[in-house]
Amino acid sequence: MCGIVGYIGSKNASAVLVEGLSKLEYRGYDSAGIALLEKGVIHTERSVGKLVNLRNMLIDNKFTATTGIGHTRWATHGKPSFENAHPHRSEGLTVVHNGIIENYLELKSMLIEKGYKFESETDTEVVAHLIKSNFSGYLRKAVRKSIEQIIGSYALAVISEEEPDRIIIARKDSPLVIGIGEDEMFAASDIPAVLSHTRNFIFLEEGDIAILKKGSYEIFDIDGTPIEREIKQIDWNPVMAEKAGYDHFMQKEIYEQPRAIIDTIRGRYSLEESTVFFDGFEKVESSAKAFNRIVIVACGTSWHAGLIAKFYLEKIAKIPVEVDIASEFRYRDLVIDDKTLFLALTQSGETADTLSALRIAKKMGSTVMSICNVVGSSIARESDSVIYTHAGPEIGVASTKAFTTQVVSLLLFSIYLGQKRGVLGHDESFRYLQAIVELPEVIEKVLEQDKNILEIAKNYKDVSNFLYLGRNVNYPVALEGALKLKEISYIHAEGYPAGEMKHGPIALIDKNLPVFVLCPKSSVYEKVASNVEEVKARDGIVIAVVTEGDEGLKGKCDHIIEIPATIEELSVFPTVVVTQIFSYHCAHLLGLDVDQPRNLAKSVTVE
Ligand code: F6R
Repeated sequence: MCGIVGYIGSKNASAVLVEGLSKLEYRGYDSAGIALLEKGVIHTERSVGKLVNLRNMLIDNKFTATTGIGHTRWATHGKPSFENAHPHRSEGLTVVHNGIIENYLELKSMLIEKGYKFESETDTEVVAHLIKSNFSGYLRKAVRKSIEQIIGSYALAVISEEEPDRIIIARKDSPLVIGIGEDEMFAASDIPAVLSHTRNFIFLEEGDIAILKKGSYEIFDIDGTPIEREIKQIDWNPVMAEKAGYDHFMQKEIYEQPRAIIDTIRGRYSLEESTVFFDGFEKVESSAKAFNRIVIVACGTSWHAGLIAKFYLEKIAKIPVEVDIASEFRYRDLVIDDKTLFLALTQSGETADTLSALRIAKKMGSTVMSICNVVGSSIARESDSVIYTHAGPEIGVASTKAFTTQVVSLLLFSIYLGQKRGVLGHDESFRYLQAIVELPEVIEKVLEQDKNILEIAKNYKDVSNFLYLGRNVNYPVALEGALKLKEISYIHAEGYPAGEMKHGPIALIDKNLPVFVLCPKSSVYEKVASNVEEVKARDGIVIAVVTEGDEGLKGKCDHIIEIPATIEELSVFPTVVVTQIFSYHCAHLLGLDVDQPRNLAKSVTVE
């Protein structure tokens, strides 16, 4: 998830672009760059690290260009570095890109054969050379021809020395808007980038290509036909705009989950062949049958994802799994060796305990892999293989989209390993993959319950204690729901396996204790339903999450939240999203700092 900006008009383009990028830093911030068309020649300036480094570099430059494109990067292909920073060039033209080009390796070999030289590891440089190779005097046509060859997602902005009076932009599956000014045009990944210049926006649709000139624009649809798109007036204030109209980053990130999951699975499966593939997994693949155990290590929310993965891996890949908290793992007498696959789960890739655990496992001869959101982070760098979740930057301290993208990655990995170990057949693989493909829609439907969940939260925001119950795959969701509630609303909450209630926590139940029960249709539905009866028999308050159409618990609970049906393994997605929304509303109603709860840090880089 990177940020792009384009400008053509009469103002100083360098200043407009850097100001625009500063409003998009939340989309990515490991490097930044701009390309300016100065007297018909393209000049590029790039810098590693936060935007301030680029800004400082530009202080002494006297660019007067009034056309340019800019980019702030969140690495997906290739670590954060000067060479990988955008813009990327091919002779006489320059490109910025947000998205993922799935067939970039194939295109790269084709371009190398044609004599193109590559300076970076990015998929974007492939786009630059591809457009150049398709150029025969008309930039828009070259862009169109190129995107016909591309598989994947993109928002692109392209400038060329041959046609210096225009910027060509295009989008598919990555956001891109046109900002219409007076005698000036803007392009941006997101509205805040240019909101200080204009309030008039066009949201490009899938497959659109547009030509931006100083005082005009033209849009062409996916078939190349000129098309009018509606101009919308945006009246958000700048703070709202950064959060895309949401009140908090956490809320925005909860709502981003359907999109984030699409980005995680993109290019990693084939439904027709019922297979899963990951780049750079040679070491894991070659030992797939030799591993006798997987040890998953993580902290906090990532540890909860690991607990769910134990169900997946044991069922699908038929391999024993242990899940450990990193700070415990690192100080134990470990029994691991070269037959152990060590798997670190981490959003940031910098959590000190997880990193240290990985180093210990590596030293003891295990193959080490990680599932991580930050490309080039310490844990990713030190792993033999990495699955990047591609969730985009998570700004809210409480983890939401990082969790769901980790869990979907873990399910894909379980299918992959099951197939490599020869224990998972075609039909079962298809059943899982089909359900994964439908998952974004399932989550969209849960998001539609927001108002209902808000009304329930209003009744309980002032209580002091909460109990969360779940069983089987939904037991870790009970832990995660409780963690989310306590970390942002400061309400004490405990998660328990529902069957364990009789062994202690049942003593807590009285008319003042709300109990959140995760009870979707599943192999353990009857068991959990009888736990609901036990709570009600002791006057406890029950908020139950059930599958749409389930009449079994109606009339027995104080509140029912319905979620769409999916396969049992995937029921954790709708249930966890309900708990995220519930915690969010409790904290917001209490007037607390949702995005930066007290005493917490986004990345725990100390022990
Ligand atoms: C809770 C939360 C934390 C993190 C934990 C691990 O909402 O965000 O519990 O999950 O600190 O962080 P990563 O995944 O970056 O290793």
